[in-house]
Order: sequence, then structure tokens, then C-alpha cells
Amino acid sequence: MEAQQISRLFYWMLGGAVVIWLIVIGLTVYAVTTKRDYDPNSMRRVIIGGGAVFPTVVLTGLLAYGLSMMPDLQRPAPSGSVTVHVSGVRWWWRVQYMTPSTVAKGEIDKTNLNNYPASERAATRSNAFEAANEIVLPVNEAVEFKLTSEDVVHSFWIPSLGGKMDMVPGRETRLKLRPLEVGTYRGVCAEYCGESHAQMAFVVKVVERAEFDLWFERQRQPATVTESRQAAGLNLFLAHGCNACHTIRGTAAHGTLAPDLTHVGSRATLAAGWLPNDRTHLYQWLKETKSVKPGVEMPEFGSLAEEDLLLLAEFLEGLK
Ligand code: CUA
Repeated sequence: MEAQQISRLFYWMLGGAVVIWLIVIGLTVYAVTTKRDYDPNSMRRVIIGGGAVFPTVVLTGLLAYGLSMMPDLQRPAPSGSVTVHVSGVRWWWRVQYMTPSTVAKGEIDKTNLNNYPASERAATRSNAFEAANEIVLPVNEAVEFKLTSEDVVHSFWIPSLGGKMDMVPGRETRLKLRPLEVGTYRGVCAEYCGESHAQMAFVVKVVERAEFDLWFERQRQPATVTESRQAAGLNLFLAHGCNACHTIRGTAAHGTLAPDLTHVGSRATLAAGWLPNDRTHLYQWLKETKSVKPGVEMPEFGSLAEEDLLLLAEFLEGLK
């Protein structure tokens, strides 16, 4: 269902509720302020009509209307739509783009890797990439989210763009939506999932198609670590074992437990929507991880030499 349809439905229901509320309040005021005997027969008619017949008719109508929308909600987004796999992890979001950025019309459903001939699958997979805590979408195009969880039940919710959907371990749930306006939106976890539930947010950027394609192309690329300060930072990153959990594509860091950092410097926030992403906050995150985000799995690196922490923060900021 499209966002306009949802908001139209919302205003209709709000209008209906206001009318019914006014009638009930009006009748209450009337009953309290008038002194006269009532005819038991007409009272019975009011009670049966207003208390049983009217709600039954209205609620049956709404139920039928609600059910009639189900087939559309169940239908997958059109072939070739952007498909984003998102996993909830305590307390961040693993984001995987599986779809090639541009798909010609009339081709096979490329949102599902299994539909590819085996010979093409590897190439397609290399076209996919992983990121974290930030989702970019082209404006006015249907997008399909495939949602799951790696630990407990989370709930994926972008209040300004659509309904929420549970993320359940061992199961895949779907959510389809079409963002209509360019802008930056906030997504949150809407199901209590432990200590840092309130610090489990993400950023959704809705951009023009051309900008989306540029972003997609850049995210797909491995990290560029050419300049010597960056190389020194990478060495430090590897020396302290950060690569056990984090991946930086194009380097020796291949860990998968924690967010992919290949382009961490390009994201708007750190620690899943919790801190602004700049060098100062990267430094703070490395140094005081546990107090910044309670319960976080990442060890604190506060014992590192000051200059090492600064270099690491600079290195991560540079991964654009
Ligand atoms: Cu994840 Cu609450």
C-alpha cells in the first residue's frame, strides 16, 4: 500500500472517530442537562441501535476493507526493485544490498539470487555489498526489505515511511514501501531487546535515483588505503585485532561479527544512530565504548596510547 493511501485512510478514520466522539459527548451533555422521563421503548432502540447495530456495521466494514488490502501488502515489490536485507543485531543493523543498482525491465527477478543461472551468481554476489546502520533509497521507487535477526526479536521501524515489522531469529519477514519525498529519516528498533535497545537506531536517506546509483557504486567498491597515514592506521587496526570482528573490504580485515567498516566514514552516525560521526566521536567511541553504549560487545580501547587512539579515529574517519 502506498503512503498516500495510508494517510488518506488515516484522515478518514480520524474524521469518523471525531464525529462519533462529538455525538457521544452531545448525548451525554443532553442526558445530564435535561430533566424528563424517557420512553423505555425509544431508550431500548437507542441502546440496541447505537450500542450493537452501529458498531457491528462499522467494524465489519473496516475489517472487510482492511482484509481487502492484504493481497497488495503480501505481493512482493515489482521485479528489479531495490531489495535490502537488514538483520537486527544487539544493538545495530546489518544492511545488505543484493540488487544490482540498475536492472533492465522484463528480466528475471534479480532480487533473488537463486533466480540467477549458477554461472552468473558469483558475479552478482560481487555486485552486492554490506554496510551498517544506514540505508539509502531512491525516491519514488518501491523497495523491499527482507528482515531477520541474529539474536533476539527486534522490530524494524521507519515511522515517517511506513509500518513496523518484527525481525525474528531464524525467519525472514518482509516490508515493502515507497518513499515519496527526498529527505533524511530516522529508523528505530521498536521491540525491547536489552540494555541498549534505546540506542538502536539507523538513518534512512531518500535521494534521487542518480545520487542513489553513485552512492551504490561507491559503497560497492573496496576501501582505498593508499596514503601513508591511512596505511599506518590500518596497521594499527589489524595489530589490535579489530579485524577479528570487522570487515574492511580490500584489506586483511574480514571479521563478520560486527559492522562492516569499509565506508564507515561516509555514514552520518556512529554506534547505530547514537553519536554524530566525526573524528572526535570516533575517538570517544574507541576510548569509552562501554559508557557510551551500555552492554555493547565491542571491547574498550581506552588503554591504548593517546596517539594510537587519535590515529585510529583519523583512519576510520578517512574510510569514506
Ligand atoms: Cu533491537 Cu530493540
